[in-house]
Amino acid sequence: MSTLKAVRGTRDLLPSETGLWNRIEATARSVFERYNFGEIRTPIFEDTALFARGVGEETDIVSKEMYTWEDRARAQSEKTQMLTLRPENTAGVVRAYIEHKLGETGQLQKLYYIGPQFRRERPQKGRYRQFSQIGAEVIGPVSAGSESPMRDAEVLEMLATLLDELGISGWVLKLNSVGSASDRPAYIAKLKTALEPVVGQMCVDCQRRAVTNPLRVLDCKVPEDQPFIDALPKIADSLDEASRAHFAAVCAALDTAGVPYIRDHRLVRGLDYYTRTTFEFTHDAGLGTQNALLGGGRYDGLSELIGGPKAPGIGFAMGEDRLVLTLLESQQAKPALAEAYIAPLGETQNAAALELARELRRSSAGRPGLRIELGDGSFRLKKSFEAADKVARAIVLLGEDEASSGILTVKVFAAGVQSKVPRSDLAAFLMAAAT
Ligand code: HAM
Repeated sequence: MSTLKAVRGTRDLLPSETGLWNRIEATARSVFERYNFGEIRTPIFEDTALFARGVGEETDIVSKEMYTWEDRARAQSEKTQMLTLRPENTAGVVRAYIEHKLGETGQLQKLYYIGPQFRRERPQKGRYRQFSQIGAEVIGPVSAGSESPMRDAEVLEMLATLLDELGISGWVLKLNSVGSASDRPAYIAKLKTALEPVVGQMCVDCQRRAVTNPLRVLDCKVPEDQPFIDALPKIADSLDEASRAHFAAVCAALDTAGVPYIRDHRLVRGLDYYTRTTFEFTHDAGLGTQNALLGGGRYDGLSELIGGPKAPGIGFAMGEDRLVLTLLESQQAKPALAEAYIAPLGETQNAAALELARELRRSSAGRPGLRIELGDGSFRLKKSFEAADKVARAIVLLGEDEASSGILTVKVFAAGVQSKVPRSDLAAFLMAAAT
């Protein structure tokens, strides 16, 4: 029988990696809380129409990358439905905003999510078919300030803080404005006119996009096409007065807050719902061609596109898999070691060792519990030392003498010193040794 393996583009994350994933998620949650965001969890699959209408039929995501199936009726009262594994979470969040009438609170909704997304892309380093996003959305009625450039600036400043707290240095924020729904047709008309005489010399993807979705031509990475693209009209020159002022206010607030950015005229992003501000944070360490750590922007018309009230919004999603790769590459990811390995000396000490481990693992007097690995009394001393050295910072020996005297023998590996420590001081001693 052939062995079964994880499906191409999906991965198992083992404990050697999940420690880092959990640290990233804990940091993200703590930053989101400080900015007063609350968590939302939406279903992993949705009605296909949500993505077709929200993300856009002509996007790569909807036209080629979705996992869609016909969900057959199981009873006469049910209908057969087309369902899709979510390729992103913004459309689901906006659907939930509409479904739960969150706009009627009159408040700005500040929502974050952490979870898997699914796209049938060609797998490569940093690109998977099941990947995880950490994202957030700010959405609400105009009267709550949802359209204000301050929302954009605050989200971008929060991202700079989050990346700094994660220990990612060397990120680059690329910023653009793709204009409002009313600016866009004039720009697209200009783009089509400029493309007409040259598109025949460009790649087949550009030839197709020039007809179906001309903005996406700006995204082309084929080297031979770059001179043609550089010569195309810039969207910045087609923005109306209001969009121009909005973008200038975002930039001014970032300048005041000291968040560095560069203007990228070609940043149009691959989803159709964007209006005005678009952005990406990129990083070169470990990611190769998939160097976008995160992307996002404003989507002032998305709610109406999927049948809801006017509810401008802005948000982002970061690829958690890519954050992990970046941190691993910059060697800031050390495996977590236990504070101590408890070695019972002989099987008669096994139960006493369990009791000691229980005492140290439990928090007491405002002190968090320690991370403890419990050995086995059947191991010879040498084997216990070898096992302890791999997983813990220190080894605690528990033999008959230690049990009767209440004075334990502890060796801290980094210092290479062996000490006698009274049991009542042990937790504090191990904690101090770990820092
Ligand atoms: P996106 O640019 O399609 O935007 O994805 C955001 C991030 O998810 C990317 O920058 C990348 O880090 C990660 N990502 C995307 N595809 C993959 C993949 N196949 N494998 C690994 N990582 C991947 C969105 O999804 C929008 N919903 C962002 C947003 C939120 N805009 C407004 N609000």
